[in-house]
Amino acid sequence: MGKKLNIGLIGYGFMGRAHSNAYRKVNQFFDVGYQPVLKAICARNEAKVRPFAEQWGWESVETDWRKLIERKDIDAIDIGSPNNTHRDIAVAAAAAGKMVLCEKPLAMNAGEGLEMTQAVEKAGVPNMVWFNYRRVPAIALAKQLIDEGRIGRVFHYRAKYLQDWTISPELPQGGAGLWRLDADVAGSGVTGDLLAHSIDTAIWLIGGVQKVSAMTETFIKQRAIQDEPGKVKPVKIDDACAFLARFKNGALATFESTRYARGRKNQNTFEVNGEFGSIYFDLEDAHQLQYFNHREESHVHGWRTILVTDSDHPYMKHWWVPGCVIGYEHTFINALADFLQGLESGTPVRPNFRDALETQYVCDAVLKSASTESWQTLGK
Ligand SMILES: NC(=O)c1ccc[n+]([C@@H]2O[C@H](COP(=O)([O-])OP(=O)(O)OC[C@H]3O[C@@H](n4cnc5c(N)ncnc54)[C@H](O)[C@@H]3O)[C@@H](O)[C@H]2O)c1
Repeated sequence: MGKKLNIGLIGYGFMGRAHSNAYRKVNQFFDVGYQPVLKAICARNEAKVRPFAEQWGWESVETDWRKLIERKDIDAIDIGSPNNTHRDIAVAAAAAGKMVLCEKPLAMNAGEGLEMTQAVEKAGVPNMVWFNYRRVPAIALAKQLIDEGRIGRVFHYRAKYLQDWTISPELPQGGAGLWRLDADVAGSGVTGDLLAHSIDTAIWLIGGVQKVSAMTETFIKQRAIQDEPGKVKPVKIDDACAFLARFKNGALATFESTRYARGRKNQNTFEVNGEFGSIYFDLEDAHQLQYFNHREESHVHGWRTILVTDSDHPYMKHWWVPGCVIGYEHTFINALADFLQGLESGTPVRPNFRDALETQYVCDAVLKSASTESWQTLGK
């Protein structure tokens, strides 16, 4: 089963479950030289975290992440708590010599992200950010097709990330899940929460961003505070964001995100148009990739739907027989397998903190562009 790797996970919410599941399953499906041990789960409220520990098989519970980091029996710290906790935890974990796995967005802003990146690099500890959509087999196949030169020079990239769950003005801000509506905890709204995914995917697929021009809107200007009955607080997050981008390779791009698109639950799409073809992906049909090949004879031109379940598709040989689809949770198992394989092979996994910092710089530039109504150019 390989070398034991003792994990300390912070947060038992949405990502706490996704990561716990990955730690439990990875050795069942991937032949990797490391075996994660669910050593300790950490959250502030012991009464709430203890049943979670029992349900998922965590050996112990901590209520202060500093104590977790001090523990000699922990090899890797996994940050699955809200964005305003990432910096302090990551910097302390790196200083203690722990490996650090961190949820996206890397940080509240690029300043924090830079501190975190410098901390893990100075300590020389393995690090990864859970941009799990890179591990959707169809998106990994899109990367393969682009790298194989099948669509040639890229002219256009068009990304959308749409949800509809914050339309009600009655929805409070703060607390489980709803911390996303509180800028003091989230850093930003859809830009950091949703577009960070779209930007990471775009950079991975076609390269770095040169400049951006953005607009944002906050449709509901104030909301109740979840844990303080009768109190309201101005809403400072971006409810929606749209931006234009010019990539370093000359490609033009549009990105749009909102949590006010009725009927769209988690519609994460992108289309790439190149010289010899195009590629389209929609997370709500995550097992498929649409591909148009202009180099075929013209009488058979047409978009084809690739069912990404064959054993020669990325990741799929580890799962079921062709035709059987995998789901959202598998992307975290695939990501963890890549992290463990990186430890084993000595070729560190991507995206690491520095990769996620690049995305964070783009997020910051987008928000600055929107607030100043001006183009923002990214550094080299
Ligand atoms: N990769 C993805 O697709 C994806 C999806 C959802 C969330 N996320 C990211 O994961 C992180 C957590 O999001 P979530 O949806 O799981 O949130 P959540 O509200 O469901 O859970 C957050 C957890 O963190 C705990 N927590 C909060 N403050 C803490 C502290 N100071 N010390 C210890 N524990 C603390 C809470 O008790 C809770 O268990 C965020 O950074 C978010 O952006 C990533």
